[in-house]
Amino acid sequence: MKKLITEEKIKSRIKELGKAIQNDYQGKSPVLIGVMKGSFIFTADLARSIDGDVKIDFIEASSYGESTISSGNVRLSEIDENRIKDKDIILVEDIVDSGLTLNRIYSEILLKNPASLKICALLVKKDKHEFSYDINYIGFEIEDRFVIGYGLDYKEKYRNLPYISVIED
Ligand code: IMP
Ligand code: MG
Repeated sequence: MKKLITEEKIKSRIKELGKAIQNDYQGKSPVLIGVMKGSFIFTADLARSIDGDVKIDFIEASSYGESTISSGNVRLSEIDENRIKDKDIILVEDIVDSGLTLNRIYSEILLKNPASLKICALLVKKDKHEFSYDINYIGFEIEDRFVIGYGLDYKEKYRNLPYISVIED
């Protein structure tokens, strides 16, 4: 395994993201919706980097099963409208790969009439995704490699690593 992003780099970038969100949402009370399971650590750290009134929620999405290639078949947990309606929602994703997961979640959430909807992704695979909207806050752009750690798994392993590594073939 090759280390790609150190714990220190992740920490300082998340501080910057928190500041940016804090600035953009002054006087508001945004809801961070973490996409489980991959973004549980990122969501927790991001929330603590925002000095202001935020709420936390989670939804569960999965498409990969036990493979490293997206199945394209995104399963989503039930989202009740009162969690979304008239709220300023920030979707918090660990990584945007094909973009299929985000496309699916984004359109599902829009249907439930949020006051606003933005996306924050820790990692985005460059030139690859086919997500149809803006990704408003991006931690790092990376090459198209399968990465693990800091919440991201391979077959449910490695989520607890405090840094991000590439699985080498
Ligand atoms: P997408 O639908 O292809 O954009 O994939 C999004 C989801 O697949 C992410 O939220 C991750 O949970 C998972 N995923 C995508 N790429 C990776 C990776 O490199 N490592 C671990 N999980 C990944
Ligand atoms: Mg995910």
